[in-house]
Formats: sequence, C-alpha cells, structure tokens
Amino acid sequence: MSRPIKLFARPVTYLAALLTLAAASLAQQVSIQLPADHATSQLTPGPGEELARSRCVLCHSLDYIVGQPRLSAAQWEGEVRKMATTYGAPLSEPDIRAISDYLARNYGAPVAAAPNRPPAPAPAR
Ligand code: HEC
Repeated sequence: MSRPIKLFARPVTYLAALLTLAAASLAQQVSIQLPADHATSQLTPGPGEELARSRCVLCHSLDYIVGQPRLSAAQWEGEVRKMATTYGAPLSEPDIRAISDYLARNYGAPVAAAPNRPPAPAPAR
C-alpha cells in the first residue's frame, strides 16, 4: 500500500521562511541619488526665474529653455502658450505673461533694427 506524499511536511517551516523573505525585501531601502543639475540647465537669475523654473520643470529639463536659439519675445510667448495649449502645462494667463517676459528678457533675440519699431530694451541683468 502506498503512502500519500506529504508535500507540506512542515508548514510552519515554510511559513517562517516566507515571512523572513518578505521582511528582508521590505527592509531593503531603495534610495536613488539624482545627479546635480546640469550646468546648462541653470536659469539666469532675475525676476520670473523662480516662476519659470517651478512651472517649466514639471515635464522636462530646463535644457529645453537654455538650449534654444535666441527667440524673439513673440516666439517665446508662442512657446509658452504651446506648452499650455498643446501639452497641457498648468499655466494661468498671468503666469504665461510673466514667464514669457522673463524668457524674452534673458533668452531673447536681439531685435533687428526694423523700420517703425522702437529699439529693444537692454536685457535686465
Ligand atoms: C505639461 C508638460 C510641459 C510643461 C509643464 C512644459 N513643457 Fe515644454 N515641452 C513639453 C513637451 C511634451 C515638449 C516636446 C518634447 C519633445 O518634442 O521632445 C516640450 C518642448 C519644449 C521646448 C522645445 C521646443 C518645442 O517647442 O518643442 C521648449 C523651448 C519648451 N518646451 C519650453 C517650455 C517652457 C518655457 C515651459 C514653462 C512655461 C515648459 N516648456 C513647460 C511639455 C511641457
């Protein structure tokens, strides 16, 4: 007569092993060290910098700003509006204006001397 195979000979032992494993994996701390901000993603200090940083870094690096070719004020405003309308950046109208001004002031293209256009104000540093 054959004996039934006792698969779980000592359930308490299995349970203890399982709990030990679970505890070990819980105790394992996961910590990550992010690299320091890239030098090129430091925004130029000035009025609007904090606002721009806090709003624009939500989705991507500030390299996207710093690495752009110099844009005109209208182009910067277009960029900021595109972030809001196309990509859903949470920006209020005053935010859009303040950030566009900051970007044009610090990352703006020198305005070409065109007829009927007053000279561009010197960038505030
Ligand atoms: C809701 C997410 C989001 C926020 C917030 C955001 N962006 Fe973007 N941005 C994007 C996406 C998506 C792209 C396109 C990425 C790509 O093509 O690789 C992009 C691309 C850009 C580019 C590259 C040129 C272009 O038009 O693709 C610039 C410049 C830029 N963003 C500026 C800004 C500025 C300035 C702010 C803050 C006002 C901002 N972004 C905030 C999502 C965002």
